[in-house]
Amino acid sequence: MDIIRKKVNEMKIGRNDPCWCGSGRKYKQCHEALDRKIERYALEGCIVPPREIIKTPEQIEGIRQSAKVNIACLDEVAKKIGPGMSTQEIDDIVDKVTRDMGGIPAPLNYEGFPKSVCTSVNDQVCHGIPSEDVILQEGDIINVDCSTILNGYYSDSSRMFCIGEVSEEKKKLIQVTKECCDLALKEVKPWGFMGDLGAVVMEHATKNGYTVVREIGGHGCGLEFHEEPWIGYHTNRGEEMLLVPGMTFTIEPMVNAGTQKIYTDQENGWEVYTLDGEPSAQWEYQVAVTESGVEILTY
Ligand code: MF3
Ligand code: CO
Repeated sequence: MDIIRKKVNEMKIGRNDPCWCGSGRKYKQCHEALDRKIERYALEGCIVPPREIIKTPEQIEGIRQSAKVNIACLDEVAKKIGPGMSTQEIDDIVDKVTRDMGGIPAPLNYEGFPKSVCTSVNDQVCHGIPSEDVILQEGDIINVDCSTILNGYYSDSSRMFCIGEVSEEKKKLIQVTKECCDLALKEVKPWGFMGDLGAVVMEHATKNGYTVVREIGGHGCGLEFHEEPWIGYHTNRGEEMLLVPGMTFTIEPMVNAGTQKIYTDQENGWEVYTLDGEPSAQWEYQVAVTESGVEILTY
């Protein structure tokens, strides 16, 4: 209760004072109505977003520009990826496209990550480290997870690619995982709840005989690489954080063909694998909650 009261007090600004968002407009003409509405949800006991993660239209425009670079990277990878290519070559493409467009690859040196993109093959769940020694083979599936900084704004997305002819089982895993993301996307609307996204992801994955990774999920993203909230998928409708216009975050469930259990390579501290060696798939979109629904920033 103290936390809620503190939050409500923080929201008290004179109606004629400049808005907290920095727009220069009077509070009453800017975020006041939104704050009042959020306040009502908070008093009912809902988890509400902190101000820092509610972006202004100008900030969303910055994230949109960053997202253009992010999308261009994955489009270029899509054109060139194939059997015989090393994952280092994917890193080279992402690094070059990002820098040519004036951006910085967000993963490079992020908490010590050594490369510019994550490349996760087959039973690698996420955070695969690109290497000259990993050569893509016919039948492999790979997630390429690209994160970009442009003018200080962050964007993040990942796609799956099939290398040559891939088994029906792997194709289906990739397809169902995409469907999970698309279903979650439909749940993004103002005054919905983050838990609605997990509920549809879990339902669809489970219905198809798959499991969803519990420990790693989506996140707020835009002014920082990883912002509040952390977004898990083992959730129920009406739970977790309230969705408010101006929030920007990722939808990125990791779906496993076998067990949901995972482990991290202890030698490099990054690469995550399925415990049973069965394949894992992931797609990632970044979205903005708008006044009327959702804007897809990256895909
Ligand atoms: N791109 C990942 C995500 O979606 C984060 C990877 S952290 C890194 O959150 F350092 F490995 F890049
Ligand atoms: Co992400």
